[in-house]
Amino acid sequence: MSEQAKKIIDETFSLLVKTYSPQPVVLDRAQGCRVWDTEGKPYLDFAAGIAVVSLGHANPAVLKTINEQAAKLMMCQASYATAPKLKAAKLLTENSFAEIVYFCNSGAEAIETAMKCARKWAYEAKGPACNEIIAFHNSFHGRTYGAASITEKRHTQPFFEPYVPATHFADFNNFESVEKLVNHNTAAIFIEPVQGEGGLASADPDFLKALRKLCDDKNICLVFDEVQAGMGRTGTLNAYEQFGVEPDLITWAKGLGSGFPVGAMGARKKFGEAIVAGTHGTTYGGNPLACAVTATVIEEMLKPGFFENAQKVSKIMLEGLNEIKRASNKVTAVKGRGLMIGLDTMFEIKDLLGALQKNGLMATQAGKNTLRLTPPLTLSEDEANEALKIIEKTVQELEA
Ligand SMILES: Cc1ncc(COP(=O)(O)O)c(C=O)c1O
Repeated sequence: MSEQAKKIIDETFSLLVKTYSPQPVVLDRAQGCRVWDTEGKPYLDFAAGIAVVSLGHANPAVLKTINEQAAKLMMCQASYATAPKLKAAKLLTENSFAEIVYFCNSGAEAIETAMKCARKWAYEAKGPACNEIIAFHNSFHGRTYGAASITEKRHTQPFFEPYVPATHFADFNNFESVEKLVNHNTAAIFIEPVQGEGGLASADPDFLKALRKLCDDKNICLVFDEVQAGMGRTGTLNAYEQFGVEPDLITWAKGLGSGFPVGAMGARKKFGEAIVAGTHGTTYGGNPLACAVTATVIEEMLKPGFFENAQKVSKIMLEGLNEIKRASNKVTAVKGRGLMIGLDTMFEIKDLLGALQKNGLMATQAGKNTLRLTPPLTLSEDEANEALKIIEKTVQELEA
């Protein structure tokens, strides 16, 4: 690291609340699946803002939309209809189970909305005592109070007590553990079809089907958090399509804006209509600029060949990583779906991430020690093979 980079990092982080430990490089610019630091070194971006930059950096369609819409109408009060809002809402409802949507700015906000929506629906449909929410161990739903209350980390962060009450945790993929927690006061079940921060564990389709049946039988609201797994990340627009199970509420963010901050909740009317004017809202959510970007991102994803590419490069990555696993006794598991991939190894995750970054590949950590690979969905075959070579070389170097 140059003296100048070190100075920028030290000075920047001295002025910030310490939510993150600093990375040892200063990023400068990006294009497609590549990012450059201020010293001109390129990296393959398999972090992508943690599964955010779905269309790749500096995507021409996104840039065009931002430029045109920002010049035309960037902001208006949420109570106005605009053409971009209609377009984004149509694209989301026409391409998912959702009948109505709510726009916001982040994943956590989408989760807060779903929690309030499910609780208000249950209050009115089943009575004021019906306010319990079931979530899962190793879950991650965000850092605001509601979201943090149904996130695994709360168990190691007692300093934020008291969390939102009536929130319980079952074991992922263990139906009996859910049944034990369900009672006549259960309002909702929140689950990530593929756990992101928790370590890339995928739900068993039969488990999700059993949850669906349980929720139908007992009139419970089933919520899928697709903030990370949705918007093409697992190879289809919505992750739930791969499991043959539709939820009642869904949360989207990350890939939905491909880098522009947006979030949304999609709902069946039966549940979504519990929210009425005055019970929830947002200043920025649904602004014309965010909605225009959202619509462009979905339109780009729906173009012929987009998901086929994501599925094809996912196959290359998964097969290549399994090869690396076969050749190394330090790589213990390849997990995930689509381009939401996890690699368990016996290396210290910090050492592995640092060595990969040194060798020109950026990635992130998930769970306690899982390497998470979430490149743009526009990744090419050549870039996938290049990434595999870097990972193979890095594993060999660390083993030596
Ligand atoms: C599954 C899931 N839900 C919710 C969130 C929270 O999203 P945000 O960081 O945009 O608030 C995240 C963020 O990583 C996530 O992965």
